[in-house]
Amino acid sequence: MSMIAPSPKHPHPALKPFQIGPVRVETPLTLAPMAGQTAHPFRVLCRQMGSVGLVCTELLSSVAMHYGGKRNESYLDWTAAESPIAVQLYGSNPQMMAEAARMVVDLGADIVDINMGCWVPKVAKSGAGAALLRDVCTATQVVEAVVKAVSVPVTVKVRAGWDAHNLTAVPFARSAENAGVQAIAVHGRTAAQGFTGKANWDIIRQVKETVRIPVIGNGDVSTPEDTARMFEETGCDGVMIGRAALGNPWLFGKIAHYLRTGESLPDPTPAAMAAAALFHARLAVERSKIGERHTVLELRGQLTKYHLGTRYAAVLRQELVKVETLAQIEALYAPLVETEAVA
Ligand SMILES: Cc1cc2nc3c(=O)[nH]c(=O)nc-3n(C[C@H](O)[C@H](O)[C@H](O)COP(=O)(O)O)c2cc1C
Repeated sequence: MSMIAPSPKHPHPALKPFQIGPVRVETPLTLAPMAGQTAHPFRVLCRQMGSVGLVCTELLSSVAMHYGGKRNESYLDWTAAESPIAVQLYGSNPQMMAEAARMVVDLGADIVDINMGCWVPKVAKSGAGAALLRDVCTATQVVEAVVKAVSVPVTVKVRAGWDAHNLTAVPFARSAENAGVQAIAVHGRTAAQGFTGKANWDIIRQVKETVRIPVIGNGDVSTPEDTARMFEETGCDGVMIGRAALGNPWLFGKIAHYLRTGESLPDPTPAAMAAAALFHARLAVERSKIGERHTVLELRGQLTKYHLGTRYAAVLRQELVKVETLAQIEALYAPLVETEAVA
């Protein structure tokens, strides 16, 4: 339970803009970076539905940036409509990270975010992502190199630490601030936890008490009430939302409305949800650099996140995992977009 009950006369005190260096984050609600999910179409939808203060790309490899290639190019897709946008990079080589940071800033990134939370072996085995939390010296060198390379603000996203015996988020936050980082996002799980267990919000509070830069709390926030509670329990400046926003770009608006008034907005209709999913699919194919078939295969795992709340939704999900063309996706959504009779 949140301790503060917001009302139109007394909005929640946490609902206020904050600054990341010169970048103003209008609403203190941010979209978490999520590989395979938070590409251009989904970020645009979050913007269109309103109340998201900052969006972020998924993690991009600084090594892949160095070597280039079509696959990597497909990740470098954002427009001014998404601004402000943070572009997240990972890597453990300070020079390569600096080079990648310069490249994404040339392409219009408003903020460069450094990933220090990813635990998957492909990333952590190379000493990058959350593995940097075990090596504060290299982590600080990476941060210093990136800060020196670009004129936009640099942020970091960390986990609580590598494992329960190495909760390094607090000392690292201090070094990162000293190295010129302008905000820090903290996911309150250790790398060893993956996504199991519960996020430890107390670590977020400890980081907030340690640094002067804005702290963005992350982990297990699914509802407006959770958001209010995270602000109150941790004192954080912003709340970052990941999984609960997937297929649900309306969530930020719902949270902001609750913090402003104490009231709950109704869920969008199945037709509105289907229209959003269709917009997502069409935009992904329109901007694809990897061909329609590959894009549609990636869309399968994104579109199934839209829970339409209708009987037809179960059928739709079964069919979506087989689609290979945009025309097939359009045909599946047509009955929902045109009429709500199947609801
Ligand atoms: C499918 C998926 C992909 C993710 N990819 C990234 C990523 O690219 N970079 C990153 O920093 N965190 C990544 N995360 C972690 C999220 O940003 C976030 O920290 C985590 O999901 C906890 O927040 P939540 O409880 O609101 O989902 C990913 C999470 C998921 C579920």
